[in-house]
This record gives sequence, structure tokens and C-alpha cells, in this order.
Amino acid sequence: MKRTVSTLLDMKKNGEKITQLTCYDYSTALLMNEAGIDTILVGDSLGMTMQGYDTTLPVTMEEMITYGRSVVRGAKDIFVIMDMPFMSYQVSVAQAVENAGRLIKETGANAVKLEGGAAVKEQIKAIVDSGIPVCAHIGMTPQSVNVFGGFKVQGKGEANAERVLQDAFDVQEAGAFMCVLECVPPKLAELISKKVDMITIGIGASNKCDGQVLVWQDMAGISANVSPKFAKHFGEIGQAMKDAFATYSNEVKNATFPAVEHTYTKSDCSDDFLKSLDEKY
Ligand code: KIV
Repeated sequence: MKRTVSTLLDMKKNGEKITQLTCYDYSTALLMNEAGIDTILVGDSLGMTMQGYDTTLPVTMEEMITYGRSVVRGAKDIFVIMDMPFMSYQVSVAQAVENAGRLIKETGANAVKLEGGAAVKEQIKAIVDSGIPVCAHIGMTPQSVNVFGGFKVQGKGEANAERVLQDAFDVQEAGAFMCVLECVPPKLAELISKKVDMITIGIGASNKCDGQVLVWQDMAGISANVSPKFAKHFGEIGQAMKDAFATYSNEVKNATFPAVEHTYTKSDCSDDFLKSLDEKY
């Protein structure tokens, strides 16, 4: 059954943890659907995992839409959240509503995510007022990497901790139904999760959040980037893929692939006919 905002909020109320993974294509979304994942984030992390950039900053609206559409077709039962890329909502409230609308209309996804706390309150409120559910994202917000001077833990120290808590209250008040807490210390993440009704989704923020998200290539062991501390490998798919590519390469080079069972022998021409062709040409 398709997850919705209300079924997800019920999960929080019932103390049932919510699963989220990033996803950027149809085939992977189908597998996640079969595995029973609750929510997918079409993250702008695709700039790093799919496009090979060092940061998420170069990702465009058009790219998000292309990847998002493919994911939605495979995510029959999964609630799909589209990340709003850098500079698609920061300029003005009107720009934010217009781009959130495009992401929903042109992909068929269920919600949008944008980074920031108090600074994007107005944008969140206007997007929610236009009928689009919003997931907020506070703590370490990768689009501000140049302000943070790297991908670093946020909310360290008392003043910073209070600011992150206040951000959580602000985005909830603006109407966010869910909020990613990225690289937030465990006790602060626990306090935030207790104090807000919206769903908290942790990444590097302890098991005290209402749910967890990971970049799927990180958790499957196929990430080209240096994996952060929180990115546990739940499989070694990267090694399995490398082995398959190398075996394929060997078998093609020594002509053991394709074997008889991989060829259409039944529909082949008769030996006599081939002999006549051979003689003719
Ligand atoms: O873009 C992304 O994948 C994200 C997650 C890391 C939360 O924002």
C-alpha cells in the first residue's frame, strides 16, 4: 500500500521506525519497493553519486526532474520526496513555490525537501500552503558546504545546539511534516525528536530519530566517494559488481561467452543454405 503523509505520521505516533534511502533510477526503486522501504529521497546527492561532482551545488532542476521521474515509476508503494537543488528556492518565496510545483507536477513525486531552518520558513509555509508536503533538512546542510568549510557535525556547543533546536521548531511551525537531521549529536537529535510532532529522519544523528536515511551507494558499498562514519555497509555490492564486470570481460576475451545456451540456435539457417551462401559470395 502506498505510504502517505498520514500513514508516516501514524508510524511516528506508534513508535514504528521509518526507513528512507536515496534513489536515482527506476531499477533501484523497484528493488527498494520489493524490499519494503517506506520513503525514497531523490537527493541532490545525485550530483556526487551519479554525476561525479565534489558537491551537490551544480545540480539543476532539469536533472532532478529526469532522475525523479524514473524513480517514481518504480516506487509503487513508496512515498517519494524530491530534493530542491541549490538556488531553486533561496532566491524568493515565489521561486520556491514555482520550482516545488514543477518537481511534483513533472515527476509525480509526493513531497519536496529543502535545506535550512529559520532562513527558509517563508518558503516552507508557501509551498505547504500550495498543497505540497515539505520535508525540511537541518544540521549539516550540504548546500551550505562553503559556509561550513566542509561536511562537518553541526549543533556542537550550547549556542549551536539551541540554534538547531530552534530551527526544528521553525520548520515545524512553517508546516514541515518531516525533517532530516544531518550530523547532529545524539542527545540533541533525541531531544528534537521528542519535542516535535513532525517526523525526524536521522543521518549521522543516532538511532533516537524517528527514522533513518542513507545514500544508497554508501550503504551498499559502491560509493566512489570516501564514506562518512555513519555509512554502515549493509552489503558489498560494489565488489560484486566489479567481480561481475571482470568475469564478463574475461569470458568475452576468451570466447567462452556467449555459450550455446545464450544463442538462438533453433532459428539459425540450415548448413546447406549457409554453404550455398558461402559459395555464392
Ligand atoms: O541529497 C541527499 O541525499 C540528502 C541526504 C543525504 C539526506 O540530502
